[in-house]
Formats: sequence, structure tokens, C-alpha cells
Amino acid sequence: MGSGYLGATHAIGMALLGHDVVAMDIEKEKISLLSSCELPFFEPGLGELLRKCMESGRLRFTTSYDDTVEADIHFVCVGTPQLPGSLNADLRWVETAFTELARRICSPAIIVGKSTVPTGTARRMAEIVRRHSSDPRVEVAWNPEFLREGRAVEDTLKPNRLIFGVESPHAEKLLRAVYRPIIERGCPVVVTDCTTAELTKVSANAFLAMKISFINAMAKICEATGADVLPLTEALGYDDRIGRRFLGPGLGFGGGCLPKDLRALCACAADLGLDDVALLIRQVDSINLSRRHRALVLGRELLGGTYVGKRVCVLGAAFKPNTDDVRDSPALAVGVAAHAENAHVVIHDPVAMNNAKRAHPELEYAETIVEAASEADLVMLLTDWTEFIDMDPELLSTTVRSRNIFDGRNALTPERWHAAGWNYRA
Ligand code: UDX
Repeated sequence: MGSGYLGATHAIGMALLGHDVVAMDIEKEKISLLSSCELPFFEPGLGELLRKCMESGRLRFTTSYDDTVEADIHFVCVGTPQLPGSLNADLRWVETAFTELARRICSPAIIVGKSTVPTGTARRMAEIVRRHSSDPRVEVAWNPEFLREGRAVEDTLKPNRLIFGVESPHAEKLLRAVYRPIIERGCPVVVTDCTTAELTKVSANAFLAMKISFINAMAKICEATGADVLPLTEALGYDDRIGRRFLGPGLGFGGGCLPKDLRALCACAADLGLDDVALLIRQVDSINLSRRHRALVLGRELLGGTYVGKRVCVLGAAFKPNTDDVRDSPALAVGVAAHAENAHVVIHDPVAMNNAKRAHPELEYAETIVEAASEADLVMLLTDWTEFIDMDPELLSTTVRSRNIFDGRNALTPERWHAAGWNYRA
């Protein structure tokens, strides 16, 4: 249920494991694209696997709930975006999926939630199923998904762990059978109750977010004291209790998961009266957002104090490299903020331009780096795509008006840019 990023990838993964899969979505356009072997989003390597599954005859797409009733196991992969004007997640699609399935299923199937949800949702879904299903043997389980955009194929076929939130040995047995090839390759399985399973996903994302905000908090101290956050990061990373990964200081995190999962966890903690926990999570969010403001300030400094009338080349629209996802993108947020300060902003991104244009038609977009940087007073690298990291400062010098570069991801080699006569800030 749900053939978006998570659902389509999971459906393809299940078909590759040898199962017969029907993937459903209420959006006709999405289903018609997928049915003709086209992905509605950018994900390296996934398109070929989609074609392979379609050719094998093990995967088909539908817009009708009725086509799904025969299944032994249903995975609910619908979106849970942040509710406008609230920290909470919008659960309407999850509720609809469980209700519509429960109304139709009349065999002892299990409905497995994969969507990221606040703690307690599985319990509520189990009540919905009890209320609407004619077969009392229909069960609810939770099997959170940890895949990363841009790495979805690898994360789906070779996950680093599987979490089974189950309420009966039957559900565990069925999930073990579904994932057998992955488990046989040595993937660890954690079997627990549904509430704990729900929380594993949210807490994993909150921890990753906290790591990024922690190093960004240290970056603030470095900036205030003249220390250098990059060697600091390296030094911390050698301690394997800390580890180097997700300790990259810079513009911070964005995307459709980390920010909204963090906020939902904050709302959940506050609802539970755990104010200290809510405060911790809120600070992680607030430090993260403060980096966007800091980027804007550093850009302004490079421009000599104002954005008004200046031409600013923004490199990056996606929230991170290897995706076309611009949801809560730090890069786009900085571009929008510079535009609001009356800069002439020109954006380039290797794959996310169409999504960015839809979200922000007021900004200007260019097809190449050089075109975007033409006559620029400031170049801002805001998403660390490889093609931006590999840019030649000498080549870019010939197109810009002023050699000012802001490296929002600590991704460039400053010496190269200094040598080519650029003012470099990170
Ligand atoms: C995340 C989780 O990693 C994944 O397990 C979960 O299933 C979904 O949410 P994703 O949203 O694809 O995945 O992004 P991720 O790779 O985690 O990156 C999140 C953000 O953090 C990006 O904006 C990235 O640029 C930023 N980031 C990452 C940093 O700012 N510093 C780092 O060191 C690492």
C-alpha cells in the first residue's frame, strides 16, 4: 500500500526476493508511470531493477484496493508528512490504508506497517482492524524501514538490521519467511513488540540528527573561538564509540524524514509530559535550522554586507546528493532566503531542478554550473554533489564577476580556491 519512495522500493525489493507483489497507490499518474517501468522519482539503480521485476511477471501496480485482498501479507508504506502548523505527523493515509484493507480482507493475513509513525500508532491501527475486519485472525505488525534516499537499492537488499514488531509467533514466522534470503545472508533480526518497533525508527533518525547537530554545535564554538571544526571532527571520529559518520559539520540535515521524525518525536515527548526529552529534541532541530541562517550571514559577509542587487549562484537544490528530493532542503531554504533579501538567485542542481522549480517558481534556474555562475558576485555550494566538489576554480574564475565562494558543506579543498584567487568561507 503506497507506491511512493518507500513503497515502490519495497515492492521491487520483495519481487526481487521472489515474491508475487501487487503494489497499490491512489495516485493514478504514479501507477501509470510505474506500470510502464518508469520511476516517478530519481534513485540510482532502481529503474533497472523495476524493469527486471516487471519482466519477471512478479510485480504489478494497481490503483484498486480490491486487487490487493488476496495477499498473505500487506505492507503499509504510505507517507506520514508533518501536519501543517504542528509538530505532529499527519496519519490520515496510514489510517485510511489500515481501514480500507481491514474492510476487505477476509482471510488470516497480516498487515505490516512500514511507514514511520509516532509511538502508539500500531496499537491504534490494531483497534481499527478489529473494528472493521470480518476475520478476527487478521493481525497488525510493524517492520520499520531504514532506507536512505540515493542508497535505496543497497539498503533494501542488504539492510543492516531487520526489526519485527509482532504480537504473535505466527506474525514473526511469516515475516521471517518473507525476508528469508536476507536473513540467511546474516542480517540480524530484532524481534520485539509493535510499540518498540515503531520507536526504533524514530529514535534512529533522532540519533542521526542529534549527531549532526552536535557537531554543528561544536562548529559554533569553533567559530566563536577560532578553533577548526574539521580536525576536531577527525579527532573525534577516531574514537570508535563516536565514529566519523554523520559527524559532517555544515548546513545540516533536511529531507522528508529526519526533520519531520524529529518534530514528531518532540511532540510525542511533550504529550507524554517528558519535557526534558522534548527540549533535547527541540534543540537538535533548532541548532540545525540555525545553520541555514549562519550560511546566509557568511554569504552576506562575502558580498560586503548586503544581498541587494547581487547575483548569487546557488549550487544544489536537493536536500543531499544523489536524490531529486527537495523536501525541507537546506540548500533551497538558503536560496529562498537570499532571494528574499533581494539577491538575484540562480540555482543549478544535477537532478532536482524540476522539483525545485515546482516548489519555488520565483527563483531562476540554470542548466549548467557555468551558466548559473555567470556574472555571479557569490557562489554558494549548498548540496555536496560530486560535480560541485570537483569544480575547477580556474574555470569558474572566467565566468563569475567576483571570486567569492561559500562552501556550506565543508566539501571543497580551500587551498585550491585560495590559489585561484578566491575568497573562501565555510
Ligand atoms: C534518513 C535515514 O538515514 C534513513 O535511515 C531513514 O530511513 C530515512 O531518513 P535520508 O532522509 O535519505 O535518510 O537522508 P540521510 O542520508 O540520513 O541524510 C540526512 C541529511 O543529513 C541530509 O540533508 C544530509 O546532507 C545531512 N547530513 C548527513 C549532514 O548534514 N551531515 C552528515 O554528516 C550527514
